[in-house]
Amino acid sequence: MSAKISAKIIDGKAIAADLRAAVKAETQLLTAAHDIVPGLAVVLLGDDPASRSYVTSKSRAVLEVGMRPFDHHLPADVNEAELLALVQKLNADPAVHGILVQAPLPPQISTNRIVASIDPAKDVDGFHPLNAGRLVSGLPALAPCTPIACIKLIKTVRTSLAGCDALMVGRSHIVGNPLAQLLLKENATVTIAHTRTRDLPAYCRRAEILCVAIGHAEFIRGDWIKPGATVIDIGINRVDAGGKSRIVGDVNFAEALNVAGAVTPVPGGVGPMTIACLLVNTLRAACMQAGLPAPEI
Ligand code: GUN
Repeated sequence: MSAKISAKIIDGKAIAADLRAAVKAETQLLTAAHDIVPGLAVVLLGDDPASRSYVTSKSRAVLEVGMRPFDHHLPADVNEAELLALVQKLNADPAVHGILVQAPLPPQISTNRIVASIDPAKDVDGFHPLNAGRLVSGLPALAPCTPIACIKLIKTVRTSLAGCDALMVGRSHIVGNPLAQLLLKENATVTIAHTRTRDLPAYCRRAEILCVAIGHAEFIRGDWIKPGATVIDIGINRVDAGGKSRIVGDVNFAEALNVAGAVTPVPGGVGPMTIACLLVNTLRAACMQAGLPAPEI
């Protein structure tokens, strides 16, 4: 007999639509009161179809909330000096409040040098070392969008994270590390697990909040999940089954449904919220640059 489905599916698409509507309303207020139209510059190098598709979605979302997109498309063989010159131009442009250089970058370009060249006040990705350091130091910072998205999704099913056992599986500087910091800020008891962790299932089984960002399709099994846990699946993995390609997360979703209290689907969970949080960061950046308080959204 198969177990009964018990988990609530966290509808990232619907939650993201609400957040985008809130950003749109706040953007209208900012424009009406201060004549500021938040501007986001998105820089794409080359023609990778996945990157192109992300960039198109970001620019469309920017337009829809009444912000101004500045799209820059450079050839894949552009040299680092040319890209640095473009970033400097965007840093100096008062109409540009946020700058995002779409990763991955071609091999002739140092991602670290490019990230470090972005004005930290315009770093809407939250990847600049100054913002990463401010986040760890408990200072106001632009934090990376995916971790912000995860916290917002968790809060739709839990009123408080204080004292909760939270496990972050994955330690990247883009997701795992900053999400662990944000969970800590919410007073969760945070553990970070990674490829060298011994007995990962045992750590998972303790977690009331289980966040996974490892890039391994359906790696986390249902019997690793604590009954009633909140499961946030940050993985986006393309798998081929029966000649058809589909996208799955890092968690075995069908199994998680029988055990978890709430779980994010892939697609339709964290992904749409990440773009909505990029808009939140752009709005925050625009407010901060004008010396205005950022709206609480
Ligand atoms: N490539 C995939 N995700 C991201 C992201 O969040 N920011 C940037 N800059 N590049 C990405």
